[in-house]
Amino acid sequence: MPDTLKEFVLRTPAGGVKRYDHDALCDLLEIDDRSRVIFEQGAGREAVVRIYPSNPLMHMAEISVDDLLMDDRGRITLGMYYDGSPLRFRLFDPKTGNAQRGAVFGTTGAGKSRLVQAILVACKRSGIVVHLADLKSGQSVPEAKGQVATRVTTQYETILMLRGLVAEAQRRMVAYAEMGRSGFVINSPDPLTYGIVDEANRLLEKNAPFRAEAAYLIKELGRTGRSVGVGIIIAAQAGHLDELGGSDTLRAMLKEGEVILLRWSSSMMQQLVGDGLIPRGEALQPIPKVVGEVRRVRRFHESGDDENDDVNSQGMLYHLTGTRPTSMARTYVVGSVAPCTGYDPLILALYGDSPPPGEPIDLMAFVTEQELAAANGDDSASNTPAHAAPPPDVTSMTTAQRIIAALARTPDGLSEPELLEALNADGGREIRRGTLRTTVSTLRNENLLARPDGTGRIIPAPAG
Ligand SMILES: Nc1ncnc2c1ncn2[C@@H]1O[C@H](COP(=O)(O)OP(=O)(O)OP(=O)(O)O)[C@@H](O)[C@H]1O
Ligand SMILES: [Mg+2]
Repeated sequence: MPDTLKEFVLRTPAGGVKRYDHDALCDLLEIDDRSRVIFEQGAGREAVVRIYPSNPLMHMAEISVDDLLMDDRGRITLGMYYDGSPLRFRLFDPKTGNAQRGAVFGTTGAGKSRLVQAILVACKRSGIVVHLADLKSGQSVPEAKGQVATRVTTQYETILMLRGLVAEAQRRMVAYAEMGRSGFVINSPDPLTYGIVDEANRLLEKNAPFRAEAAYLIKELGRTGRSVGVGIIIAAQAGHLDELGGSDTLRAMLKEGEVILLRWSSSMMQQLVGDGLIPRGEALQPIPKVVGEVRRVRRFHESGDDENDDVNSQGMLYHLTGTRPTSMARTYVVGSVAPCTGYDPLILALYGDSPPPGEPIDLMAFVTEQELAAANGDDSASNTPAHAAPPPDVTSMTTAQRIIAALARTPDGLSEPELLEALNADGGREIRRGTLRTTVSTLRNENLLARPDGTGRIIPAPAG
């Protein structure tokens, strides 16, 4: 094995390399272990190629509580870049007083939940209040139980939790306006607060029962929560944007958010790039499933070992919104590497013994009257609470009913494209723009929607 590091500085076309072919570069350099070669597009017209004796992110240190304490610039350290510099993630911006919106993407097993666990520890240790939805029935981050202010594990409770967060953001907006304040000041009087949803794809995928409202609430938090200290972070596995409530939800998250991309699937990258969500996605050196492997042709008499058993690149990522979006990085080791039979003692130790900051959200306060009325109490077979409304059957609803339902929780209305997107995300049949326009004008004539107010927004009729 070579033991010296080689570095090449390359001049690239203006604007950088558009489409990067890692295999071709490695072939040119005659290097079989592709993970030894690191490519980074610099700002401007320079790129760096480094050849390491072995992948520099192969052996990571364990994460410490110190890494996870928010610094005076509102950042925590989650890991490091290939060249050893720290990978920082922002939870608060002291200059603007803004909470963040964050998104962690990656294919299954890429390391999303461990990363979320690190963020949860960071929040607890830094006095940040967390309301957590763990939509894999609480299995994604089991150690978080008792370490966060609110913890829910079903889709309906998640909706209640998100309604609670949006209501809190609205309460703060009014309160701060009355105080004559333009921004958020940490802990005076309100704490920095996050809604964190792991496995958000379950909430947002096609045919999910609360898809439209979930997408709306998450977008709403991204829009209004930030400046009043209520942030949102989602972790999601996705092959298709449809599984994330449509590209609009993501666009809201990716705009000025903290975005981390762990190992992806090729269809996911195609979509993200195709939709303009990751403009430079194709310039990223791929994250291999297996690091340190020499790929070679397998002869007909040779049997292959099961590649899945060898996955060892968990936690490798790009911090797309950081200062080095095309620089490969990796999270430190979070918790035990071998599976535990119960709670992971290393993760519990990171959380520490103190109670979590903040008060739980009173979920019952966010059950709507309609949902209460629909509850019939004999819903014992499902794990949704007895008061949960059955998901609306959009396939049997008229276009008019679907419009009114989509607008039910947006007193300020939606623009035509937003409404169209919400409708076409509710699981029912597709509605065309023309149909939407005609139905909206009929509903306005019947006073079932507010009259046009000149802004082009479609607004529900005032109550009463
Ligand atoms: N930072 C890390 N430190 C230590 N081990 C990790 C880390 N990230 C991932 N792993 C290992 O990889 C496994 C899968 O990681 P994780 O559960 O976080 O993936 P995921 O992306 O949430 O997957 P899924 O889509 O199945 O929920 C973990 O059980 C752990 O063994
Ligand atoms: Mg997970």
